[in-house]
Order: sequence, then C-alpha cells, then structure tokens
Amino acid sequence: MATFTLPKNSKITGKGRHHTADGAGRVRKFKIYRFDPDSGENPRYDTFEIDLDDCGPMVLDALIKIKNEIDPTLTFRRSCREGICGSCAMNMDGKNGLACTTAIEDLKGEVRITPLPAMDVIKDLVPDFSHFYAQYASIRPWLQTVSPTPSGKERLQTPEQREKLDGLYECILCACCSTACPSYWWNSDKFLGPAILLQAYRWLADSRDEMTGERLDALEDPFRLYRCHTIMNCANVCPKGLSPAKAIAEIKKMEAERHI
Ligand code: SF4
Ligand code: F3S
Ligand code: FES
Repeated sequence: MATFTLPKNSKITGKGRHHTADGAGRVRKFKIYRFDPDSGENPRYDTFEIDLDDCGPMVLDALIKIKNEIDPTLTFRRSCREGICGSCAMNMDGKNGLACTTAIEDLKGEVRITPLPAMDVIKDLVPDFSHFYAQYASIRPWLQTVSPTPSGKERLQTPEQREKLDGLYECILCACCSTACPSYWWNSDKFLGPAILLQAYRWLADSRDEMTGERLDALEDPFRLYRCHTIMNCANVCPKGLSPAKAIAEIKKMEAERHI
C-alpha cells in the first residue's frame, strides 16, 4: 500500500474555499490541492461539491467539470483520457494513479486529490517533471548498436526475443511508481527510481541492443540502482499493471552474473 507524502512545496496554511453543488442528486466532495506560485500565498485545499448524476464516471471527468463550470483557474494535465499518455497522474485518496482511469465510485467519502508526492509543484496538480525526464535521458533510452545496419532490412527479432519486452514497453512514464517509492522520495537526486530503471531494463532486455555492458556499467552504482530496497510500492501502484520491482531485480541479476 503506497503511503501518502505531500508534495515538496506543500506547507498547507492557505485558507481553502468551498463550492457547494446546487443539485440535490448524488453529491460528492472533492478536496483539491491548490498552489499558485504567482499569488504569493501558501498552498491550500479547496473543496468542490459535484453532483455525480451530472458528471462523467472518472476523477478526470470531475476535474474537467470543476474547471469548466466552477473554477477555470484549476490547473492539471490531461490529454488522451484513456490511460495512454500518462499526463493525468496524480494522488487520489492517498494512492497514485491516473485520473482518467480511476472511477469516482471506487473512492470512498470525500475525495482528496493532490499532485504526485515528493515532486516540486508548478501549479495546483501539475508537478515538475524536469528532473525525472533528465534521469530518463541519462539511461540513453534508444536502440544502440555497433554492428552495421543490415542492408535493406530492419533489425529483426524472433517472437521469443520480442516477448521479453512484454511488461516493459507498455510503460507510459507517468511516474506513479517513482513518486510512490520511499527510496526515491529520500534520494531522487541520485537514485534513478523504479520508472527509469524499468525503462533501463527495457533496453537491456532488447535482443537488438549492443550496449549491454556499457548500460550495466552506468547503472552499477550504490545509488542509481542499489537504492531500491524492494519496498514494492512501485508494483502496487502502476496503473498499467507493470512491475518495476521485477525489472529492477532482473538488472541486479544481470549485474551479479557478469561478476561470476
Ligand atoms: Fe507509470 Fe507503471 Fe511506467 Fe511506473 S512503470 S512510470 S507507474 S506506467
Ligand atoms: Fe522503490 Fe519499488 Fe524498489 S517501491 S524500493 S523501487 S521495489
Ligand atoms: Fe492520458 Fe489520463 S489523460 S493517461
């Protein structure tokens, strides 16, 4: 079970606002983290009442309704609204997930929504992914080869080789896992975290890649890889059902095997 940690700039002392629903239908309260760096005010929680009979079923539907009908300043990321782009990742009732694939009905009572934990917040529910993306770039997430490209052909894989990428290629880099990992909370400056390590293993597991040794060299470090202490929050929260913990274990196994 992922525990809840507030975003980094989250000393919540601001006075929250309360918006009451007019309808008498199935009313639910949404308590939403608000932070506007330009206002000079501290973060606060605002509470919005939404009539679920007049709203789509997902948390993202409620956020869009609030933005369209109550408070246009509410800021959050979203694009695909079907669990593909990863941009609507946030913390709902203490658990990281995608707002577009989380049903309101699955959350009980007042729904508390905050940005992904332990990241700097740009505004409201929008965390700053700059460091996360820099860590992603650091693992060189592309096919690296030294042998000449086969003329007129792609680099082919057998079905068995291709199968090794299942459970890895589906990652949408939403960061739900990394921001649920206590080791990442304490050491995100040096520990790559579960999302980036799963991506690193995606290239180590690719039969076409020819930089396995160099990739393992770059990961063999007390912090970058070995700060994973098998806490398993990452596997519990992944909205795509992936297991970064398993990928990390595979990398550790590859590191150990090459020293035998
Ligand atoms: Fe998101 Fe899952 Fe990828 Fe982590 S492994 S970034 S939780 S899709
Ligand atoms: Fe963190 Fe997952 Fe390891 S939660 S400590 S990366 S098993
Ligand atoms: Fe794309 Fe939610 S809007 S994953």
